[in-house]
Amino acid sequence: MSNENTAGAMPGAKERVVKIIDNVDRLPSLPSIVLALMDVVNSSDSSADDAAKLVGQDPALTSKMIRLANSAFYGIPRSISSVSSAVVILGFNTIRSLVLSASVAKMFDGKHSLDMDRFWKHSVVTAMTAKIIVRHLMSVRMMDPESAFCAGILHDIGKLIFSQYMPEDYDAVCNYAKEKEISLFDAENTLLGINHAQMGKILSDKWSLPLDLEYSLVHHHNPQNAGEASYLVNVIHLADVIAHDLGFGMFDDEVCIAEVEQCRMELKIGTADFDKIVQIIEGSVDKSQEFLSTVIKG
Ligand SMILES: [Fe+2]
Ligand SMILES: [Fe+2]
Repeated sequence: MSNENTAGAMPGAKERVVKIIDNVDRLPSLPSIVLALMDVVNSSDSSADDAAKLVGQDPALTSKMIRLANSAFYGIPRSISSVSSAVVILGFNTIRSLVLSASVAKMFDGKHSLDMDRFWKHSVVTAMTAKIIVRHLMSVRMMDPESAFCAGILHDIGKLIFSQYMPEDYDAVCNYAKEKEISLFDAENTLLGINHAQMGKILSDKWSLPLDLEYSLVHHHNPQNAGEASYLVNVIHLADVIAHDLGFGMFDDEVCIAEVEQCRMELKIGTADFDKIVQIIEGSVDKSQEFLSTVIKG
């Protein structure tokens, strides 16, 4: 962390960051249902029944899952009335995304300096975009689109720590970014000496997230550093930039670090393909409202 004194920083901001890091035990823990569900998703011996039983223990999650499964978000033509059919039809990884998203929203439901509506809209649009990109590239490389959705939902989670645990400092960071017309990532580095990607790593370590998710949190602004997870991280970077371009940032005219050409090259997306992807996303953005109202706020 940098120790330089910078105009615009709140006095003591860097000390408050160190306090959060030193007291990592006080940051929210993943609920046991999410941990158990991750084990189920990762185990080759698991059945749909195992996942259904877990989710079924939580009435609020059960109702969210059934409502979302029947919404236009997934566009499933038949009606789904039980958790077990939702698991079978949507798949383990989709259930993991739903449960993780709902749990994270609940864990960070305190007072924030960031506009939470905008935060979650940005996260959900990034997640949907990432899923659409992966689907579009399926003939080039196989990846579960739902892993990209999950990474998209979580990619900026480090911002939630700043916004909930040091709201005044983060307000100053947002104002500094606006005033200097720089990205939040750069403003965080300057005023706090740490950025939301590094903060995301602290949560990822605490929660023992799988490596591909962790790398998406840590490297989404520097996809060139993502090593073995570079495919997914390039997807998340591109999805993040597209979400900003479509107006889904943390605030109006938020500056976003964009390495679009490099990412497109890595992912082998030509100009025509890229335009097509953006068009599909523009046509799907309305559906993000269903996810927000059912899973995040529901
Ligand atoms: Fe970010
Ligand atoms: Fe983002």
